[in-house]
Order: sequence, then structure tokens, then C-alpha cells
Amino acid sequence: MRITDFYKYEKKTSPKISMITTYDYCGALIAEKTDVDCVLVGDSLAMTVYGFNSTIYADEKMMRCHTAAVKRGIKSKLIISDMPFLSFRKGEAKAVETAGKLVKAGADAVKLEGVLGHEKAIEKITGSGIPVMGHLGLTPQYIKKIGKYSIQGKDEKKAGEISKQAKTLENLGCFSLVLECVPPLLAAEITASLEIPVIGIGSGPHTDGQVLVFHDIIGLYPNSPSFAKKYANAFSVMEKAINDFNEEVKKGIFPKEKYENNKEARAMGHRKKKI
Ligand code: KIV
Repeated sequence: MRITDFYKYEKKTSPKISMITTYDYCGALIAEKTDVDCVLVGDSLAMTVYGFNSTIYADEKMMRCHTAAVKRGIKSKLIISDMPFLSFRKGEAKAVETAGKLVKAGADAVKLEGVLGHEKAIEKITGSGIPVMGHLGLTPQYIKKIGKYSIQGKDEKKAGEISKQAKTLENLGCFSLVLECVPPLLAAEITASLEIPVIGIGSGPHTDGQVLVFHDIIGLYPNSPSFAKKYANAFSVMEKAINDFNEEVKKGIFPKEKYENNKEARAMGHRKKKI
């Protein structure tokens, strides 16, 4: 899926959009081989890759390095990169500068959380030719204020605020919106009220698409949220592979035969020894 496919998206007839987070080169190679529509270099990498307890620890350098690694493995899909915590709250110039660095690192678009207080930054980024994806509902960069990772927009007042902000993001030129952890009915209402495609996470089935975190899908991250379906158990597959290696080393089974690397050993003056 390219950016123009987002512009052409028809809510009634286009297929649902699938997006996964991707953080590194091998993850990107895997994503590239799949039919998933687009990849997000999410700031969730602070948690899944770096082990922090929140996304606020993802900084500009991390986002740039991981975007570049993903770009080396992704050839045919749209790459969206997260604008890190506070990077769009320090004025328009700083916001455009950060977005520009992410694009130069390989991103096709950027995503940023919330809208109130940084409307001008969003306008300036889109006006500079960088597509922006919005992100409302549960916005993890605001965790210190929200207090806990929980469903947002449960009461009428909050639901109304989120709907209004969604419209604002569309009017500011966002090409798409991520809606995280809002009640399914609210997600359905917002999806129907916007022209841009809405991609949900933990927000029920009525959005135009779904996004999940790579490590949650493959079962690698131990603290996955309850809404994330585990399609594999990569943690135990990897654990077993490493334990098998350890056992073979201890028993002297590895390396033997084709793994002995005899060519290099001979080149270094060693003689091939049959065991
Ligand atoms: O950083 C991230 O992984 C995200 C998704 C949860 C949408 O923003």
C-alpha cells in the first residue's frame, strides 16, 4: 500500500487495512514477505525492544536508527514512523525538523499522538509535504497524565472530545488516524464520520483497519495487552533453539561436519581432523 492508496481509500468497498509495527532489519524482511499493507516504526520499541516501561523513552535518535534499519528491509510498503515524546511540542520548527529527519532516515510518513496544543505543528508538517497519521484514544505518550493504560472515551463527554479531535485531525490534513483503546461503538461512529481511513487497536472490529505490535503478534513480548491476539509463540521457539544449541555445545555435538568451518581452519594452517 502506498500513500496514494490511503487517499483513494473507499470505506464501503476497499479491503480492510492491516498494519504491524516493525523495528529492525530482520523484522522488516519478514514484514516485506507478507501481505500486510504497511509498517509502523512505533515508539513502542522503547518497551518491546529496549525493555522500558513506557514509550516516553523512545527518543529521536532511536526512532531514526530503527527507521533506517526497517527501510533497509522494506521495499514495497509504506513506512510510517512515530514522532517521539515531546518532539512535536517544542514548536513548529522542531516538529518539522524531527519529521524531516525521520523521512530522510526512510519514513514515508510520520505518526503523532494527540492534537490539542500542537495543531500548528501538524499543519506545518503536512504543509511541508510530509504525510501525518494521527493517533487518538489511548495515547501512551500521555501515560503520566492518564495514569494507567485503560479504555478512553467511556463517558459521553470524553467520547465527544475524542470525536471532535478526530475531525480536527482530518481537517488539519492527516491522511489516516489510529484509534487506540476506545469502545467499539465510539470507534464505529468516528470511523463513519471521517473520510480518512481509521486504523484501530483494541477498539473493536468496526474501523477501516487494524494495527498490532509485531512482538505481540508473534508472541515474543511477555506483557502483551489482552486485546492483542498471539498468532505464534516465538518466545518459546527461540528459547528452545537456544537451549538446543547449549545442549549440543555441552555434549560436543556442535560444531561437527558441515559446521566445522574446516576451509577457514585449513587456510589458517590447521589440518582437517576427522572426528
Ligand atoms: O508505537 C506503537 O506501537 C503504536 C501502535 C500501538 C499503534 O503507536
